[in-house]
Amino acid sequence: MIALRSKTALVTGVADNVGFGWHIAKILQAAGANVILSCHPRVRSMLERFLTKDKYQESRLLPFNKGTFTPAAVISCDVGIDTAQALPAELLSQKGYENNNVSIQDLIEQTGEISASLDILIHSVAFSPEVTKSHLEVSRGAYLTAMSVSSYSLIALTRAALPLMQNRQASIVGLSYLASERAVPFYGGGMASAKAALECDARSLSWFVGEMGHRMNIISAGPYASRAAKSIGDIETMIDATAARSPLRRSISPQDVANAALFLCSDLSTAITGEVLHVDAGYHVMGV
Ligand SMILES: NC(=O)c1ccc[n+]([C@@H]2O[C@H](COP(=O)([O-])OP(=O)(O)OC[C@H]3O[C@@H](n4cnc5c(N)ncnc54)[C@H](O)[C@@H]3O)[C@@H](O)[C@H]2O)c1
Repeated sequence: MIALRSKTALVTGVADNVGFGWHIAKILQAAGANVILSCHPRVRSMLERFLTKDKYQESRLLPFNKGTFTPAAVISCDVGIDTAQALPAELLSQKGYENNNVSIQDLIEQTGEISASLDILIHSVAFSPEVTKSHLEVSRGAYLTAMSVSSYSLIALTRAALPLMQNRQASIVGLSYLASERAVPFYGGGMASAKAALECDARSLSWFVGEMGHRMNIISAGPYASRAAKSIGDIETMIDATAARSPLRRSISPQDVANAALFLCSDLSTAITGEVLHVDAGYHVMGV
């Protein structure tokens, strides 16, 4: 069993009991980590329902019979905002933003109040306001928002978290998709470019964080019907194609991704960094 005892993990992009972030957070806690969740400000009350309501109890059971999912805290953060000063005034009246404490800087400050150090940072966030529009139709504004929220946020989160990671040999893991390297017509709104940037950024950042002993890797996950993926529109087609044409002849589960994340956060992967690990039943190796 991989042991993460005495390690603290911050898992961003958790909104429900379906997405990759939820499953990654659970396996990290099962391995012994102290887990802090971060969610978009608008989905906080929804996430709290999944964490507390009896009817979701089964989904809170940890892998390896390690008890029940009990994150140390839930912290709201809009990863498109670096500091409280940068919050656009029109957002202040929106649900979750009222206290103007949802920037990346606020997230890391609140994390530091809960734990003096940080060993694991999971970036499981993606958004495009025009995800249903094709790459040909996407507007400049939506393209830039996709890059800001889905890619630049990895740089901003990492930079902000570094003081908490001092001397911890931390592991940073992000989530990408094959459209970064192949043409996937269904994957619109600028998200393919955002994933290409995310992978490129992880390679570049691995050099800078590596000097401090930290690692940064990306999991390129196969398609899976999460809340975000369903908004793409053709996710079932993408899942069926993976199942039919991947070497393993199956689609992937969130547990496959969580298992790989656990490996990348553990001491079993201490010389692996700057890597894009495909967790897609082998789909990416196929030529036809
Ligand atoms: N589901 C798939 O098919 C698939 C495949 C490969 C990679 N991924 C990636 O996995 C990661 C997690 O996605 P998921 O599929 O589990 O869906 P998800 O909906 O569970 O996760 C996406 C999260 O991003 C959050 N988010 C969006 N904008 C935000 C913002 N401005 N600030 C903070 N949080 C914000 C959402 O609230 C949500 O929690 C994403 O990076 C996604 O691109 C998903």
